[in-house]
Amino acid sequence: MADGSLTFQAMPIDVIAWAPNGALRLLDQTLLPDETRHLELDTTEGVIEAIQMLRVRGAPLIGVVAAMGLATVAGRRAGSGLTAEWFEAEAARLAAARPTAVNLRWAVDRMRRAGREAFSQGAPEKKVAQLLRGEAQRIWDEDAAMCLAIGEAGAELIQPGATVLTHCNTGRLATGGIGTAFGVILTAHQQGKGIDVIACEARPLRQGSRLTAWELATSGIPARIIVDSAAASVMAAGEVDLAIVGADRIAANGDAANKIGTYSLAVLARAHDIPFYIAAPRSTFDLALASGDEIPIEERAASEIPTAKGISVYNPAFDVTPAELISGIVTDRGIVGPPYTENIRKLFD
Ligand code: MRU
Repeated sequence: MADGSLTFQAMPIDVIAWAPNGALRLLDQTLLPDETRHLELDTTEGVIEAIQMLRVRGAPLIGVVAAMGLATVAGRRAGSGLTAEWFEAEAARLAAARPTAVNLRWAVDRMRRAGREAFSQGAPEKKVAQLLRGEAQRIWDEDAAMCLAIGEAGAELIQPGATVLTHCNTGRLATGGIGTAFGVILTAHQQGKGIDVIACEARPLRQGSRLTAWELATSGIPARIIVDSAAASVMAAGEVDLAIVGADRIAANGDAANKIGTYSLAVLARAHDIPFYIAAPRSTFDLALASGDEIPIEERAASEIPTAKGISVYNPAFDVTPAELISGIVTDRGIVGPPYTENIRKLFD
């Protein structure tokens, strides 16, 4: 809404929630923007299916959801065999649901550690389940807090009246809070900077034109959607002041994996002398990987790209933007610039 009367704070729609019956409640994002329908999940298979089918997606949010899912299934199991072995096996299955976003593994590892501690203290099953739910809630709360910090830090990069280009979806449909790149945009908007946004469609599943469009519309931010292939001419026409996107995994040297098409935008931004930023919480960094070459890239089903029978499809869902094309990484601990290897390490000191 262009008058800004409907803000996220006022929005009654929960993206994720604990259902009163103990299940995990999720907004089914595959139906957006046409329909807002929730699912209730209380099995590991159900949570894995929701993550794999992108009913819930976005790197930080799938981490939060995996943690909540583990707490939910542990709660159901409590009293009938919630053992350390059973919990480890469920955690391993969930961690493997999608390969690129490291936040998923990061959150599952935190749940594993919480589980191990509770089991090693000999806590009764119901108590273990309670402790796991507490840890999942902390993961969610911390993600929301990291989004706010990213928003505050990144808004300083945005000049009054700027036009900001973004890609894919990085707001409250992708995180446990206001978002990463979208958190920056929302914060600048709420600071009264009078910005406007150009959001790429994000083919093939249109996370931009379906999901970011929904977030922009419901938070009253003036915006236009473009098809991905329009980015070059829009930049050439001088319409973009700054580009900012999220990330699914950032290697120790600053190379960043994000939705397919991000790399092309970074190349275009460099060609047109436009600053190109990544925004991500610390849970998106994978310091075990020296460079982006080691980031596993998810390849998705051919059915996502309708084409003629008999033609094969190659459908990588992410690409890696080399650090040298990134002007800075906006994190919950401030903005990190080159030399990335050194400055990223300092984030974790
Ligand atoms: O395949 P998706 O929709 O999960 O991809 C999401 C993205 O690529 C986002 O840009 C990324 O996770 C950052 S979310 C804050």
